[in-house]
Amino acid sequence: MGTSEAVLQVLSGAAPRLFSGDPFFSASDSRCAFKLPLKCSRRRASSYLQFLQYSSVQQFGARGIGSSFSGSRKVDPSWLHSCKCQKAESVSGVTTEDGNGAWFVDNAKKLNPIDSMVNGPNVLEFQDLQQLKQEKEVFTSSGGNGAPRDTFHNLNIDSIEDEAWELLRESVTYYCGSPIGTIAAKDPTSSNVLNYDQVFIRDFIPSGIAFLLKGEYDIVRNFILHTLQLQSWEKTMDCHSPGQGLMPASFKVRTVPLDGDDSATEEVLDPDFGEAAIGRVAPVDSGLWWIILLRAYGKCSGDLSVQERVDVQTGIKMILRLCLADGFDMFPTLLVTDGPCMIDRRMGIHGHPLEIQALFYSALLCAREMLAPEDASADLLRALNNRLVALSFHIREYYWIDLKKLNEIYRYKTEEYSYDAVNKFNIYPDQIPPWLVEWMPNKGGYLIGNLQPAHMDFRFFSLGNLWSVVSSIATVDQSHAILDLIEAKWTDLVADMPFKICYPALEGQEWQIITGSDPKNTPWSYHNAGSWPTLLWQLTVACIKMNRPEIAARAVEIAEKRISRDKWPEYYDTKRARFIGKQSRLFQTWSIAGYLVAKLLLADPSKAKILITEEDSELVNAFSCMISANPRRKRGRKDSKQTYIV
Ligand code: GLC
Repeated sequence: MGTSEAVLQVLSGAAPRLFSGDPFFSASDSRCAFKLPLKCSRRRASSYLQFLQYSSVQQFGARGIGSSFSGSRKVDPSWLHSCKCQKAESVSGVTTEDGNGAWFVDNAKKLNPIDSMVNGPNVLEFQDLQQLKQEKEVFTSSGGNGAPRDTFHNLNIDSIEDEAWELLRESVTYYCGSPIGTIAAKDPTSSNVLNYDQVFIRDFIPSGIAFLLKGEYDIVRNFILHTLQLQSWEKTMDCHSPGQGLMPASFKVRTVPLDGDDSATEEVLDPDFGEAAIGRVAPVDSGLWWIILLRAYGKCSGDLSVQERVDVQTGIKMILRLCLADGFDMFPTLLVTDGPCMIDRRMGIHGHPLEIQALFYSALLCAREMLAPEDASADLLRALNNRLVALSFHIREYYWIDLKKLNEIYRYKTEEYSYDAVNKFNIYPDQIPPWLVEWMPNKGGYLIGNLQPAHMDFRFFSLGNLWSVVSSIATVDQSHAILDLIEAKWTDLVADMPFKICYPALEGQEWQIITGSDPKNTPWSYHNAGSWPTLLWQLTVACIKMNRPEIAARAVEIAEKRISRDKWPEYYDTKRARFIGKQSRLFQTWSIAGYLVAKLLLADPSKAKILITEEDSELVNAFSCMISANPRRKRGRKDSKQTYIV
């Protein structure tokens, strides 16, 4: 092998595989990797593809079985079998301790959110109160003594829910004859499907939760196990492979002609790790959501056999290893590129965006609960625990802002050199945007979107804040303050349709520079402060966790006024979410599923515990020990005289 060839092979990621005992990586493959990397990776992928495929003529044989995994995954042979040709075993017989029967009582209707909001202690903006009062008057007057109107209202709500279930079921996609996921949108009005006919990992989470809450466990189990198999896929873009353990953003079930037999077809799972996605961004959130769903599945179905499987345990560890790998970073937060999550286009969220950190924390806690204790995992568990402590401290301390903290930042000294600097990230007070000075309520606060050296992204990102409440990366006080802020800023964050993805929009030159003049992300549209009904479910979990479900119930009631009539759009545009989004899909599955999850959880709030992780007192203790044992901190403390670089 010539030097240049060797170098190229290393660059393409081919060389290590040559020695890794990958049976699909022959000498001819390695030459191919050098000359025709894309074609070669396809060929290798297709060998792997054979391993996963289902043949409609049942020609499975033993082709490739057991020999197809490269690298570190140990495979549970029983799974190989079912993956090839059988439906994953049914788990529908499994029930939860408390059974399902009581789940469908609609407690949300009993909550009477309008009453509790108007009379409750929570501070609302004046305009909101007026609007609510008017709505209440119309509500009562139109029904005389209220009863006929209520009956009509309930019937209407029931039919919205029925319609949502029907649409959710229509979006289910099958593989080997078994339900395996839900496609992103089934919009008959749109001729350009792009990749909305695929099963997105993040989009499936509310679908999966809705099915779990309904006692339909098979689809979730199949989804978990099939996406796990995709984790080991050969993923390559222009000679480069990302780290082992990455989960795809989406996958599609394709029907292709069977090799060597024109008359037969077979189904294959075709994943996209970002190599075909717009912007070519790897989805960092997929693996984190997968872990969260896995725990929810176990908690809801009572079937722990899935999380205990060897291949599932290995899958969890691969995700953790990828996330916990050492890099150049000084921060415990995960460093990612722009668009690695729900916001999957350029929106200036590269660095350490809150959404990823909240999901990371949540996934670490869920994984810790599920990992089987064994010596081989001791190092991983140690790394995980250390990261949990450092991560929660970092977020609570440096991402939090409220009026008091904002005033501190306003008075920050800069250019501090020392271990105990107050302004650790050298934030220049001029960065505080004028809108925030007006916007920050007296009561309430939130976690900022991102923190980098000399940069705070002060935008309010909803999913990050809501999941910080759910995962307990935010303290109890901070969690309440986030909900206080949501109430105080109702007209900005909910208005005519819940829930704004972020606030405020990037406009003018900022929009040009930060989004690259993205015509889809114009101000108050799509990711740039558009409103996404799917966020209703995360809002509901957060509100239930803090024992304030009436906030979510009120948002659901607002959504119910339009969402079905508007045909379940993906997102809404304008400051008050008055228009269906410019390029919004209709019949977007996660809008439908998000609504259903919100309804089901409000009907039985105790079920939210399958998604919630509580603050861990062990971690709090570990944190104080860590701080007091840190020699740098001690040295910094002793030497209170600060030094400044001039
Ligand atoms: C858009 C969203 C992304 C979602 C996908 C499919 O790209 O930004 O979060 O997963 O559509 O619905």
